[in-house]
Amino acid sequence: MCGIVGYRGKKNAKDVIISCLRMLEYRGYDSSGIAVIENKKIRVIKSVGRIDELDKKLSRYDLSSCTCGIAHTRWATHGKVNEENAHPHHVGRVTLVHNGVIENYKEVEKKLKDYTFKSETDSERICALIDSFYDGNNEIEAINNAISLLKGSYALGILFDGNDKLYGVKKDTPLVLGINTGETFLASDISAFLGYTNEYIVLDDNEIVEIGDNFNIYYNNKPVYKTIEYTDYSIEEAMKNGYEHYMLKEINEQIDISRKLYSKYIHDGEFSDKLIDLSKYKRIDFIGCGSAYNASLIAKYFIDKYCTNVNFYCNCYIASEYRYTNHYFDKDVLAVFVSQSGETADTLASLRMCNSEGIDTVAIVNVLTSTMAREAKYVLPMLAGPEICVATTKGYFSQSYICSLLVLNLMYKTKKIDKEKLLEILEEYKKLPENIEKVINKDYKTVAKAIYKCEDVYYIGRGIDIYSSYEGSLKLKEISYIHSECFGAGELKHGPIALISKDTPVIALLSEFAVSEKTISNIYEAKARGGLIITIRKESINIDKDLSKHDIVVPLTNEFIQNLLIMVACQLLSYEVAKLRKCDIDKPRNLSKSVTVE
Ligand code: AGP
Repeated sequence: MCGIVGYRGKKNAKDVIISCLRMLEYRGYDSSGIAVIENKKIRVIKSVGRIDELDKKLSRYDLSSCTCGIAHTRWATHGKVNEENAHPHHVGRVTLVHNGVIENYKEVEKKLKDYTFKSETDSERICALIDSFYDGNNEIEAINNAISLLKGSYALGILFDGNDKLYGVKKDTPLVLGINTGETFLASDISAFLGYTNEYIVLDDNEIVEIGDNFNIYYNNKPVYKTIEYTDYSIEEAMKNGYEHYMLKEINEQIDISRKLYSKYIHDGEFSDKLIDLSKYKRIDFIGCGSAYNASLIAKYFIDKYCTNVNFYCNCYIASEYRYTNHYFDKDVLAVFVSQSGETADTLASLRMCNSEGIDTVAIVNVLTSTMAREAKYVLPMLAGPEICVATTKGYFSQSYICSLLVLNLMYKTKKIDKEKLLEILEEYKKLPENIEKVINKDYKTVAKAIYKCEDVYYIGRGIDIYSSYEGSLKLKEISYIHSECFGAGELKHGPIALISKDTPVIALLSEFAVSEKTISNIYEAKARGGLIITIRKESINIDKDLSKHDIVVPLTNEFIQNLLIMVACQLLSYEVAKLRKCDIDKPRNLSKSVTVE
């Protein structure tokens, strides 16, 4: 996912823009660039690699007089990683940065016969298209004419030769304005300018902003007036605050997030009415991608265990399948979209499909300025704060937590649990912060040392531990690049056990008491083949000392949140393994924070 920053004000544009761009590094990128207005001329400087490389190049120029510019971090979609394909692009009298994907850029290119292109990117074609409509004075009209021909998604920051203003427009990809006295910011998300202002405006599709000493917003060439919103996110929340990596900071933030979620959704032993009552529906579709999908499985697990009947059931779907398969929809169907960023393309497309069917839709989402947060009928805020590390931890935690509350609320509303039982369970939710802290303070370095050189690591479990294994295995592979898979423990002997040889690490999750003996015998099967056994278990499940080489025990708590403690252990184990492997933990290769392309 690319990142866009624009600035116009009184400060040194280069310094401000680079500081904002660094706040977008978490989105994942492979090149970057900046364009600044220097004595009414536009200077473009680009670099492959990290922003530090770009900064080194910039130090060769005196840009101290520049007070307006745009910049970009590129995560390659069209074309190789090189300077020609890096943004900003400059064609004719137009310079721009683009986040998104133009589906008809080849068709657009046919209308640009007088132009030659240096890059392979769709973005350079947008630049030329705007230039083809530009007569030297009609900036808004030229942008409108150009975007009317585009199919696909875009967030654009635009400069015009000889003009000291900054322009922006978006469709299906976020673009926000940061508002401060004497200066205005343009960015892909508010974390870019949190160090300068907490006031922002979210642009809606095809609204064009013109930023001069003041700013004006136009829609169909007519001025529109937007409310200035305020975020209480602080720059500290978006920074590392002394942690070595954002991932470690965000794992630790789960302690406070569990308190925030409790206060948001539970008041005096009753659920907030903001928590959707699932009992009003007959079918619940959970839709998400990656870890968000894995989190939704927690809801499915408990609904299947306690609530399913002939008139009520739920399914979980990966969004990239859901949007392309047929579903029966009526007023008894609720679609729940799980997404940290609120911008994941497949999840967003699935939401729009459900909205067009007229059914009720809910977004469990962290970024409240996101497209999903604005288009879903109901929103359940994740309250996790800016998640900078590409690999989600606190995002998954919050999603799972909210999923568990949705089911508890359903059980209470349908009288499957009485008030006394509910209060007993909620007492455990109150203890979650201290229990998370206990899990965080355990030793993961020793276990990590035992497995960090391995090529394959397998997770096994039964019941909810299978679903935790999905996420535990995903976490390990995405930040340490070790091949990892997960299997139902009972499935081992149906094939996967062929993979176990001497010292193959098998991480067994043990929180399901009822089937723990079965799982333990499966672990012995793997041990008998030479597997290096690691157990992550709740303290009430006892095992023989000789069963595992490494044993991590987490506090016993209520089943609805036991998986959260198991997951904190999996997150920290993955973190320590990745550290030993000297991986780029916060920005794993090939990954971006939100997959806004299909
Ligand atoms: C990152 O660690 C996740 N593994 C990734 O799969 C993420 O959960 C997925 O891309 C969905 O992102 P979203 O929650 O922003 O929609």
